[in-house]
Amino acid sequence: MTFEPRRFMNRYPEESRDPVPVERYTSPEYFELERERVFRRKWLNVGNVLQAPKPGDYFVVDLQVLDTSLLVIHGMDGQFRAFHNMCSHRGAPVAWDKQGSCRNYLACRFHGWVYDTTGKLVHISDAENFPGVKAEDNGLTSVNCEVWESFIFVNLADQPEESLAEFLAPVTDEIGRFDFSGYTPAFSYRIDEAVNWKTLQEAQLEGWHLPFLHEKTLARAVKVEGSQYRHAAIELHGLHGVLGSPPPDSFTPPPTAELASRFGTGTVQAFGSKVENADEGYRFRGSFDFWHIFPNLFIGLLNGLYFTFNIWPVAVDRSIWEIKGYYPPVRTAGELFAREYSKVGLRDPMMEDCFTHELVCAQLKSGAKQHIHFQDEEILARHLGSGVDLCVRGLA
Ligand code: FES
Ligand SMILES: [Fe+2]
Repeated sequence: MTFEPRRFMNRYPEESRDPVPVERYTSPEYFELERERVFRRKWLNVGNVLQAPKPGDYFVVDLQVLDTSLLVIHGMDGQFRAFHNMCSHRGAPVAWDKQGSCRNYLACRFHGWVYDTTGKLVHISDAENFPGVKAEDNGLTSVNCEVWESFIFVNLADQPEESLAEFLAPVTDEIGRFDFSGYTPAFSYRIDEAVNWKTLQEAQLEGWHLPFLHEKTLARAVKVEGSQYRHAAIELHGLHGVLGSPPPDSFTPPPTAELASRFGTGTVQAFGSKVENADEGYRFRGSFDFWHIFPNLFIGLLNGLYFTFNIWPVAVDRSIWEIKGYYPPVRTAGELFAREYSKVGLRDPMMEDCFTHELVCAQLKSGAKQHIHFQDEEILARHLGSGVDLCVRGLA
């Protein structure tokens, strides 16, 4: 194979080659700066419009990293809005269910104050006993909320430094060519891990570990040169970036995957299949393109399906990994089987990842080493930490 060592470092000379301080993964002070200078300032994806398809539908998102819980509502006017899920009376949550639907009104269960889907307070129970409390001053506290394609983003800054369109500008022309219509939420996983959020993400920002850690699971669905995995592409786009995964020269799925593939495309088969790019629409770099939207969203685009990861810091050594798969609607029992197989096919490599993340996190705390290293195929993993560090130092 023609392979140019340090091909990505040469293309992106501005990206440092230095060892990375372990402190960035273990220091509570650094974590506090990440909360304030990354998560409180940047646009964060909190859901998909498919979670609230009709006016009046809503869902609740716990943002532990910012000590709040958000209520995202599809308004009767069709607009999506986000609010702190907190009643203006004495602070109870307004929506208690994680997901639901209303006819424009939500009543607080504690003492019955009522809000509409624009966040306006429309009823104060026992109003005469609240002298001086005006409904117009006590609506829900809103949070900046914008939608791009299927993705709902919020920004917790009082005044965002840039619009969502500006924030996503380095990637929207390309990702926007993927047709996100016609998919339904097919499955989800939610994993609570004892790991720093960057350690968790870095393992998703490089495929180089596939032939090692995932030797028995994913490795056969990707191209491996000798014992090395080489990305079909890695590109840095501002703070964001993308990995392209090369399909293997030939792919023989395991027998159950083979059976499932007769009824519908699953993730493992899609990983292993070469995509013929059409002239129109999204152009794949490999069988599978994995976009990283800073700071914590991944959008995996495959031929005929997509999936997302949202990785939420909880503490310096604890994170939540949310995984959601979006597939075409199931029409037959065979397609349901293919989809379920696809779900469990992802589970084993994820468990290999999670187990490893936690061991890494535990060992980073030992103090045995002050630095870790990233090689050329890991440049996107390094790029996450560089972007975070720029934010922490007030430079991005
Ligand atoms: S806390 Fe909501 S009505 Fe009292
Ligand atoms: Fe992995």
